Amino acid sequence: MAAVPQRSPLRYPGGKTWLVPHIREWLRGGCRLLAEPFAGGAIVSLTAVMDGLAERAVMVEIDRDVAAFWRAALDHGDELIERLLAFDVSRENVERIERTPPATVVDHGFRTLVLNRTRRGGVLAPGASLTKHGENGNGVGSRWYPDTLATRLREIVAHRDRLAFFEGDGVGMLEALAQQPGARLFVDPPYTAAGGKRAGSRLYAHSEVSHRRIFEALAGGTADFLLTYDHSDEVLALAREHDFNVAAVEMKNGHHARIDELVITRGRLFN
Ligand SMILES: C[S@@+](CC[C@H](N)C(=O)[O-])C[C@H]1O[C@@H](n2cnc3c(N)ncnc32)[C@H](O)[C@@H]1O
Repeated sequence: MAAVPQRSPLRYPGGKTWLVPHIREWLRGGCRLLAEPFAGGAIVSLTAVMDGLAERAVMVEIDRDVAAFWRAALDHGDELIERLLAFDVSRENVERIERTPPATVVDHGFRTLVLNRTRRGGVLAPGASLTKHGENGNGVGSRWYPDTLATRLREIVAHRDRLAFFEGDGVGMLEALAQQPGARLFVDPPYTAAGGKRAGSRLYAHSEVSHRRIFEALAGGTADFLLTYDHSDEVLALAREHDFNVAAVEMKNGHHARIDELVITRGRLFN
């Protein structure tokens, strides 16, 4: 399996790095537009554009803090990089940033980046706590790698003409783009149904979406899509009802337990 470079500066609960080899296979041959209506760390959009698998990508995210990060990265990337390289990651400085209401989009985007990289598990949802001991006992800054993050941001700046970001509802965007020929949709919604393993409501500030609306929009459209979910009976029933193809992909979660993630497509993806 080819190496999977980390492209996103955000650590994302439910992040999809494990899926990248399958995404490359899905997008083989390239496409004009890749859409990611629940962007989060936007790993798939970044990979598709940077690996030359999509001419352009459009990302949508409803969370204000995450949205501010993407707006800052795409519209004020150089300033964000300067801020990041100058930051002294002490607990006091992180707590000051957490308390101070951001005045500009760069302040806000930088605040998101700092909290994302210093809170336990990268969780931005209200109530998440700061890392206490951090990796190897290095404290609050144990996941703050300024040079690496600056490199990732520079790559984003270099590709920004091909990356579009919108703050808003991904379901509405999905309904519109599902009708567009030549578009491909990577759909990774927050998942909260009973029995699902990813506790969406704890991880994301926005975790309520209509899963049925997502399935109906995809079934009624012509665009190719790849939809991922935690393994659950509700999702399997929706996939069956809409006659979609389901593959269970085994992955390890943060605690090295094996869990199944569902990869749902219109036709057969894996043999
Ligand atoms: C499972 S995560 C996506 C993770 C992403 N694939 C990655 O690899 O980083 C789901 C994301 O959808 C966002 N979200 C929730 N409801 C949304 C909505 N109605 N429209 C757009 N984004 C939404 C959440 O804030 C969260 O960032």
